[in-house]
Amino acid sequence: MKIYPVYNNTTQPYRKISFGTSGRYYTDKNGDEFGTNSWLFREDIDWRRLSKYSKNHFHNKNRVNIIQFASSDGSEAYTQIISLLENYPEKDAEKFFPIKAYDIDEEIINAAKSGLINTCLADRMNIQMNTDDYTRYFAETQEKLFIKDNINLQSQKTLKVKNILKSRVQFERADMYNILANLNDDSDTILMCRNVLGYFENDRVEKFVKIVANKLKTGSLFVIGDHDTKNSFIDRFLKENNFMRVINHVYQKL
Ligand SMILES: C[S@@+](CC[C@H](N)C(=O)[O-])C[C@H]1O[C@@H](n2cnc3c(N)ncnc32)[C@H](O)[C@@H]1O
Repeated sequence: MKIYPVYNNTTQPYRKISFGTSGRYYTDKNGDEFGTNSWLFREDIDWRRLSKYSKNHFHNKNRVNIIQFASSDGSEAYTQIISLLENYPEKDAEKFFPIKAYDIDEEIINAAKSGLINTCLADRMNIQMNTDDYTRYFAETQEKLFIKDNINLQSQKTLKVKNILKSRVQFERADMYNILANLNDDSDTILMCRNVLGYFENDRVEKFVKIVANKLKTGSLFVIGDHDTKNSFIDRFLKENNFMRVINHVYQKL
């Protein structure tokens, strides 16, 4: 199946990624594995380490802009907020919020805005491993969140996202190319662009990295995912464009 979403004002073929919220267990209508989406505390980042690094690295900044491209159902934003709040005195963590989170897909951004999140057992275990008090962030609910093509797993549970998370992120439907074109960095940006570039061809990945390299100033961070490093030469492209890897999947602009 070929689907042609509009990005960067082009309609080039693109390997369709899944938008179900059950992440690892996603399958298409034929039951074939079709890709993955997102989940809480996705293991390709050491979230605690990233929070501690961000805290030390930006200690002399009053404000840090966290921008998330390909933000999906909000799992990544909630993970980063929880991780910062749990590893940082709360009042000092405020300079990182609100996170600005963008996704091109209308349905997934509406799901993120709904204040609900579909979780599987592994998500809920991840929350418990990374927080002292699960109920500080999520509440049980009878409400259901339906997203297209989302298969209904027995272990899936919809949770209500509490205000401590909701108030610290702004979700907006947007093409990451447009946001990037208007980005004004002052060496105070953490740009998350995870597990989306790996779906592109290498020449497109390289062009994207060059735009990011032109936009980000010394000291800002660019964060990618496991899917990107496994499916493209992005690590090489980043190093060729003045980025240094400081943590697995986290690059600092030199
Ligand atoms: C596999 S998910 C990645 C989610 C999350 N970043 C993570 O690593 O778990 C990829 C997301 O990229 C979004 N996406 C694809 N092209 C995009 C674009 N040009 N601008 C913004 N989002 C895009 C899709 O809608 C999808 O929600």
